[in-house]
Amino acid sequence: MKKILMIGAIALLGVLGGCGKETEKKEENVAAKPVETQVLKVAFNQSDKHPQYKALEKFSEELEKETNGAYKLEISPNELLGDQRAATELVQNGVIQMAVVGNPVVESFNQDFAVIGLPYLYDNMEHQKKVFTSDVLKPIFKSVAPNGFEVLGAFTAGGRCLYTDKPMTKPEDLKGYKFRVMQSDTMKKMIDYMGGIGTPMAQGEVYTAIQQGVIEGGENNEVTYADLKHYEVAPYFSYTNHLMVPDLIIINEDFYQNMDGDKRAIFDRLVKETIENEFQVWNENVEKSKKLAMDNGAQFIEIDIKPFQERIKPLQEDVANRNEMTKKIYDDVRALAD
Ligand code: GCU
Repeated sequence: MKKILMIGAIALLGVLGGCGKETEKKEENVAAKPVETQVLKVAFNQSDKHPQYKALEKFSEELEKETNGAYKLEISPNELLGDQRAATELVQNGVIQMAVVGNPVVESFNQDFAVIGLPYLYDNMEHQKKVFTSDVLKPIFKSVAPNGFEVLGAFTAGGRCLYTDKPMTKPEDLKGYKFRVMQSDTMKKMIDYMGGIGTPMAQGEVYTAIQQGVIEGGENNEVTYADLKHYEVAPYFSYTNHLMVPDLIIINEDFYQNMDGDKRAIFDRLVKETIENEFQVWNENVEKSKKLAMDNGAQFIEIDIKPFQERIKPLQEDVANRNEMTKKIYDDVRALAD
């Protein structure tokens, strides 16, 4: 009885206080050293069909295998652990170990992050892949450690485009149109420069806000557009491709620093591989999402992006020239473009 009570208490502590430890023992090898599995809780704001969820799932399988069962992930999709801001706090406090959060969320801890989420910074997926699989973002990623978390790397979330009740083919079309943006000053300015009215709002509120006429549209990638059924309220998706915002993989600083050295090396290598792998999963999903939206009446419109790129230039210059760090990162990222 005592034993059962104790196991119950340990399990409860695991849920509240950090990563769960499975009591079941695993045989590591012939030496039969018992291994306790540490379950890393991960907050995710989108569905379990999302490319990033799938990439994390694969990461978990490989991590468990390669560390002989020392670590695995438990991913909670659909904002079950709160929106991205709430999830970041849980990671900071060590209640959970990891989360995937949009770049604007981390921008509120260090404004320099605005530079890696600038509109028209990345030319295309290949360019972004080169950046995300290189080490050029490492200095900025480490910079938030005093806040209790670190950025391990970035997932792609494709190219973001405007969607509303009519095609947006030139900046003048945006006049008087309120577009929901992620919650940061840079994101608001982005739409303002493009010709519309940037309206910061949580992702979960967008559908109803468009439906009720609080805003006229949103901006996102094809996958989220289809996943959240935004085509029902905003059927014209115009390929402005104005933003390829990084989705950052964050981890609790104490947990990360206290990982066993060898296992952490495996963990770090697998994170890198996962980031690369997610680009492919992403590309495979875009066409499916487009088809789903089109089958439900959405129209995808190709446009000339040059006038939008021109309008965005002052914002790029302003953010890139903020300080030495932003200047260097901007130049390093651009240097990887073809
Ligand atoms: C994308 C991105 C998310 C972000 C969302 C948003 O789906 O991948 O990280 O939360 O857009 O617009 O809020």
